[in-house]
Amino acid sequence: MNISLNPADSLGQIVTRHPRLRAELGRLGLDYCCHGNLSLAEAARNSGRDPEEIVRQLESAASAPEAGPSPDAIDWSQRPCAELIQHLESTHHVYLKTALPRIAGLLGKVKTAHAQRHGRMLEALADAFSGLSLELGQHLHKEEQVLFPLIRRLESRSPGELSQPAGVRFSPEAPIRRMEQEHDQAGAALAEMRRLTDGYTPPPDACPTFIALYEELRQLEDDLHLHIHLENNILFPKALALD
Ligand SMILES: [Fe+2]
Ligand SMILES: [Fe+2]
Repeated sequence: MNISLNPADSLGQIVTRHPRLRAELGRLGLDYCCHGNLSLAEAARNSGRDPEEIVRQLESAASAPEAGPSPDAIDWSQRPCAELIQHLESTHHVYLKTALPRIAGLLGKVKTAHAQRHGRMLEALADAFSGLSLELGQHLHKEEQVLFPLIRRLESRSPGELSQPAGVRFSPEAPIRRMEQEHDQAGAALAEMRRLTDGYTPPPDACPTFIALYEELRQLEDDLHLHIHLENNILFPKALALD
C-alpha cells in the first residue's frame, strides 16, 4: 500500500494508522510505545538520523507486499474499549504469564552453564529480567483488577449515570498515569536487556539453550512493545475521552 507520512505526526499516531510499520520502526530502533508521543521527526533526530530519510524508509516498507495475513490487521482504534481489553487480556496478558516463568527457567540454566565466560553479562541480564518480571506481575494484576473493570464500567454507563456530577464518578486518570509510568519502566528494562545482549546476538560459543533464551527475549520485547502501544496510544486515550 502506498502511504504518505507526515514527520510531524507522533510515532503512536503513525503505528495506530499503519500497524504494519511496527516491525520497521522496531528495526530502526524508534520506540513507538513508551515514547509514542514523540513526533517522527523528533524521534529520528534523537536517534541521530535524518527525518526525511526515515520517512522514505517507512513509506517504502509500507508499499512492500505482505508475506501473509498480518496479526496487526485489526484497527483497534475503531473498536470498543471492552473488545480491546478482552484482546489484551486473552493474548498479551496470557502470553506474559506463561513466557516470564519459561524465560526465567532458561536464564537460570544459561547462567549456570556459561558462568565462566559470560558470568558478568548474564548476572546483569538476570537482574534486569527479574526486576521486569516482578513489576509486570503486579502491573497485570492492577490492570485486570482495577483499571480494566473501571474502563468497562465507564463505557457501558447508562444515560442516567452520565449526568452524575464528575466528583461522584471515579476517574480513570490516576490509574492510567500510574500504568503509563510502569510502562516507561518496562520499556527502560527492555532497552537495558537489548544493550546487554548486543541486540540479542548470541556469542560464538552459545549453546542451543543460550540461543533459545535470546529468541524468547526478542519475542518478549516485540510482544511487550505491541502490548504497551495498544494501551498507551489507543486504549488509554479512548478511556480518558469516555470520562
Ligand atoms: Fe496490559
Ligand atoms: Fe500495561
